[in-house]
Amino acid sequence: MPQPPSRPRRSNEPNPNAYSPAVLGFVYTPYVIRFSHRFAWQVPNSVLHRNHADNIGANHLTVGPGNGYFLSKLPPSTALRSLTLMDLNATCLKVAGDRLRGRFDVRTIEQDALKPWPVAEGGLDSVDCHMMLHTVRGSSMLDKEGLIAEAAKALRPGGRFIGATILAKGEGVVLNGLATRLMNTYNGQSNTFANANDSSEDLRALLEKHFSEVRYEVHGCTGVWVVTR
Ligand SMILES: C[S@@+](CC[C@H](N)C(=O)[O-])C[C@H]1O[C@@H](n2cnc3c(N)ncnc32)[C@H](O)[C@@H]1O
Repeated sequence: MPQPPSRPRRSNEPNPNAYSPAVLGFVYTPYVIRFSHRFAWQVPNSVLHRNHADNIGANHLTVGPGNGYFLSKLPPSTALRSLTLMDLNATCLKVAGDRLRGRFDVRTIEQDALKPWPVAEGGLDSVDCHMMLHTVRGSSMLDKEGLIAEAAKALRPGGRFIGATILAKGEGVVLNGLATRLMNTYNGQSNTFANANDSSEDLRALLEKHFSEVRYEVHGCTGVWVVTR
């Protein structure tokens, strides 16, 4: 993210400077979604759009909606009706909620997604978590298991958990020069990422631990998954 938070974040707490209305409204889509996804993280947005379009069911929860861009691009044929947005940052809930409320029945939950989710067990058709696990605090991917476990618990049998996250290492992970520079900055001085030790192998192992059917691929330095409970 272009703007550093006011002080280093060691635990999951809101970072309103990085997710201000101005950043979400004017910077996030061109700089993060259009530029960084393609040139740094090397993940085609078409893959992320397809992940959403093919797998989101009628009763869905999104973890970390940002400005709601990908949900706003769901095709008219989407099954989605009831949408729960969960986020640590109130501004993301407000911006994404306002953007999506005309189309879907939206409710919001303001909390750290690593903490227990206040939703009925087995009640959801789908959960998504795109491009956010790399910002969740932890010394490695293994510290982020709570979020994956909560997603599994909230889904009905046969429900799908989909997502993508930026990885630092592992088989097939390719960090180009721009990705290396940005990741060093975001994990260091700006402290907006916490993925310096996130590996593809740990992510895949966690998905396989909590879900029965795992489809997983790496694009550049981004792990992308569709898994079924
Ligand atoms: C980089 S943005 C991704 C936005 C969106 N999913 C996308 O793909 O465009 C990360 C999002 O995750 C949220 N977030 C970060 N850490 C979180 C946490 N521990 N719990 C809940 N939400 C979190 C941020 O507030 C933000 O909305």
